[in-house]
Amino acid sequence: MQMTFRNPPENYFFMSWNWPLIRKFSLWLFISGLVAMLALVIAMIVSLPKRCNPDVEWYQGNLMYEIFPASFADSDRDGIGDFRGLMLNADYILSLGVKGVRLNSIFNSKEYPENYKNITSLIEIAKPLGSIKDFVMLSNALRARNISLLLDLPLYPYVKKLTISKTQELSETNNTDHKPTAEFLKMKREREEDIISQAIVYWQSHGVDGFYLKGLENYVNDTNFPQSIKYWKRLVGQSRALIINNEVLKAIPKKYMNLLLNNVDLVDIRLEIGEGIDQIRKVIENELNGTLFLKPNYPWIHWSLGDVDSVRLANRLHHGNATLGAMLLQLMLPGTPSIFYGDEFGIKQILDTHNDKKDLEHMHQLAVMDWKDPLKTFTQEGILPWMHGQPTSKNFDQVELLSKIVALRAESPAIYMSSVYKDEENKANAEVMYSKGDMLVMQRWYPRRKSYVVVSNLGDNQIVNDLSTLLYSGQVVVGPRAESRSETISFKAVSLWQGESVVIQLD
Ligand SMILES: *[C@@H]1O[C@H](CO)[C@@H](O)[C@H](O)[C@H]1NC(C)=O
Ligand SMILES: *[C@@H]1O[C@H](CO)[C@@H](O)[C@H](O)[C@H]1NC(C)=O
Ligand SMILES: *[C@@H]1O[C@H](CO)[C@@H](O)[C@H](O)[C@H]1NC(C)=O
Ligand SMILES: *[C@@H]1O[C@H](CO)[C@@H](O)[C@H](O)[C@H]1NC(C)=O
Ligand SMILES: *[C@@H]1O[C@H](CO)[C@@H](O)[C@H](O)[C@H]1NC(C)=O
Ligand SMILES: *[C@@H]1O[C@H](CO)[C@@H](O)[C@H](O)[C@H]1NC(C)=O
Repeated sequence: MQMTFRNPPENYFFMSWNWPLIRKFSLWLFISGLVAMLALVIAMIVSLPKRCNPDVEWYQGNLMYEIFPASFADSDRDGIGDFRGLMLNADYILSLGVKGVRLNSIFNSKEYPENYKNITSLIEIAKPLGSIKDFVMLSNALRARNISLLLDLPLYPYVKKLTISKTQELSETNNTDHKPTAEFLKMKREREEDIISQAIVYWQSHGVDGFYLKGLENYVNDTNFPQSIKYWKRLVGQSRALIINNEVLKAIPKKYMNLLLNNVDLVDIRLEIGEGIDQIRKVIENELNGTLFLKPNYPWIHWSLGDVDSVRLANRLHHGNATLGAMLLQLMLPGTPSIFYGDEFGIKQILDTHNDKKDLEHMHQLAVMDWKDPLKTFTQEGILPWMHGQPTSKNFDQVELLSKIVALRAESPAIYMSSVYKDEENKANAEVMYSKGDMLVMQRWYPRRKSYVVVSNLGDNQIVNDLSTLLYSGQVVVGPRAESRSETISFKAVSLWQGESVVIQLD
């Protein structure tokens, strides 16, 4: 076959162009285009956020730390802990990974600290703790470490007592305009007579980021309850937290439930770790299937294992590492975990050998923090002068392991998130996979992230169990025994000592 051209080739106008130059130019254009596209792709990859973990408020999923300030750290050697002492130990709190410090009793009472519950004000500070200036310094010191400061507002019985005296006063003057009200909460807001709102406003202006409304369950029938709770949440705003006890949820009339859940941020739930696996499983599953997980904007659970009124965790559990095991389980629950000061190293009740000195027996759980590397500001005996007794054993090695899991928590949505919202349905991202005898296995997950399980033995005997029907393989991330750290675990024979928990990252 032959190609025929009507015109001889030398007649085409483009024949005279400088083709070598054009070829060079095109090649250069092509290569630079390629380079530009490559650069663009690299730039996009580099500029992608390293971790696009879901955002939460500071009080959601982060570790809280509850302190009885009179027992924490003493800076002026009067034998009673104070704000300055606390401030001097802020780095210790930071090292635990704490994001919120909650002081549970700072208000003035006739005899503080022995009678710390009988408060006379929601504003005035108990003198031994220091001044409002010291308080603000403490708040600033914590803020510099990204730690928020929270306060307990003990509404009951203080507010009730005020109500009664106010009611008597009103009836004595025979003032029929002011029909004596059964509850103090009924005070008119526009007159700023509500001491609770006053306290909230006052403490916010001194650096407080959240409030635990203690004893609110006693006021659920108050006609002013719904407006009050709405008003308080408006006062504190989105970035500060309101905490209530689970008892409020149980006591509140059904018609106000939704209003309550839309105006509080955390619901405190006590996990009674000594009550056995069945009970623990029941509590966890009831919550996971319960109201609090119905909607993504509902309050998160604030999990606690002990508080100012209960016998120390280390005294309720019998085994060496059981407080660590209990806290590893707590730190794997969906919600905001809260540690009562000293439990992180298994502090025990104060031992009192004086049979004639029983007056402070109800406060023996408020043992003093015995600083491992004390700032030499505390009483040498590790015991408060206002308390009789002897210090008891502690296990400081636990602290390091706890910080480790707190750090893991902070970067793992599977653990710090509380639920997953998908297809217009909100679901807790936790499941109790197994519970038998004294062993509990709980799994945590999040879409496209690593999953974790915590395996706990809460009983009195060593357990060896075959979990291979439930789980395939994983690495131990945190466990109390040296030999159980960072090693592949065989789910065919999971062996746990009494009181022990391990956290495992699933492959
Ligand atoms: C509490 O303090 C008041 C005085 O502020 C006193 O009258 C009352 O007896 C005290 N209550 C207790 C239980 O100590
Ligand atoms: C506190 O948080 C801010 C912003 O998240 C961060 O830049 C800063 O480094 C943090 N400071 C400390 C002490 O962690
Ligand atoms: C209050 O009013 C009643 C009558 O309504 C009267 O009998 C009583 O004396 C008054 N009490 C005082 C303290 O004024
Ligand atoms: C509130 O009212 C209900 C029903 O009237 C009652 O059962 C409950 O004990 C009351 N709670 C409080 C705290 O007064
Ligand atoms: C919670 O829900 C799961 C399934 O969603 C169910 O298997 C489990 O039995 C429920 N637990 C309780 C205590 O209702
Ligand atoms: C507790 O854990 C430590 C390691 O941190 C270990 O040496 C010790 O034997 C454990 N105690 C018990 C009773 O299991």
